[in-house]
Amino acid sequence: MRYTVVLTAEFPKIARDILAPHVDVIEHPTEHGRTEEDMITILADADGAITLLQDPITRRVLESNPNLRIVSNLAVGYNNIDVEAARELGIAIGNTPGVLTEATADLTMALMLAVLRRIVEADRELREEGRCEWEPLKLLGASLQGKTLGIVGMGRIGSAVASRARAFGMNVAGIRRGGSLEELLAQSDVVSLHVPLSRETRHLIDAGALAKMKRGAYLINTSRGALVDEDALCDALESGQLRGAGLDVYEFEPAVNPRLLTMKNVVILPHIGSATEEARTAMARIAATNVLRYLRGEEPLHRVV
Ligand code: GLV
Repeated sequence: MRYTVVLTAEFPKIARDILAPHVDVIEHPTEHGRTEEDMITILADADGAITLLQDPITRRVLESNPNLRIVSNLAVGYNNIDVEAARELGIAIGNTPGVLTEATADLTMALMLAVLRRIVEADRELREEGRCEWEPLKLLGASLQGKTLGIVGMGRIGSAVASRARAFGMNVAGIRRGGSLEELLAQSDVVSLHVPLSRETRHLIDAGALAKMKRGAYLINTSRGALVDEDALCDALESGQLRGAGLDVYEFEPAVNPRLLTMKNVVILPHIGSATEEARTAMARIAATNVLRYLRGEEPLHRVV
């Protein structure tokens, strides 16, 4: 019997190439704002699925199709999936760690440089003026050299950011699970977040945490938006408690807090941490292989549950 694997969006071609010789592949166009009901409809015939990090894979979705055996998220994060429900229902969950570490660490540095050196603001100004005038006091930012970078979450991505930051002459302080966040916040000129989103980490950076940061420090977030209380962040940016922020992720994605859209001292990107051809191809290869192996009775390459 041939299994059916549903791709909930248009993924790099390698996913289909890996799957199509062995299973029936149903490929859906990339659509935004899918609901639980949409997912139930899309996954109705699936034995396996490759999903987006914003697809709501809730208990109801997992329960709706008794044939469903594996959901393979094209992401390292899996906070969109009810993993407890999956465990109870005996549905395997796969993810794609490792291959997006360097891309995400690069983007973290790109955001840090962009915010501290006011790159986006400068680019905009030059386009508006149509001229390049050198002035001693124009667009002064902050150097990375000698600053302390506080890394919240020294896993794969946090560690890759640490080695890049050291090459820029930064002093790196990092915490793993259970380390003192308060101490890290108090000593850091730049704080960068690299922990997964869970019940425990939601609003890790709230008004209280922002108040504990050095006045004039910067926040970089390339992990998950809901780690930060976005309204409190806007307050801190407006009051000068924070000098700037570099964000790739948002609390209520796809929505972006409208206050952020008008702030000059933030650089905002549309969740592109892993968006290199190399990383996305490697992620699609792993996501497809996870599904194929599991349907064949083998262990997926990367299994969360
Ligand atoms: C991206 O955000 C991922 O979790 O891979």
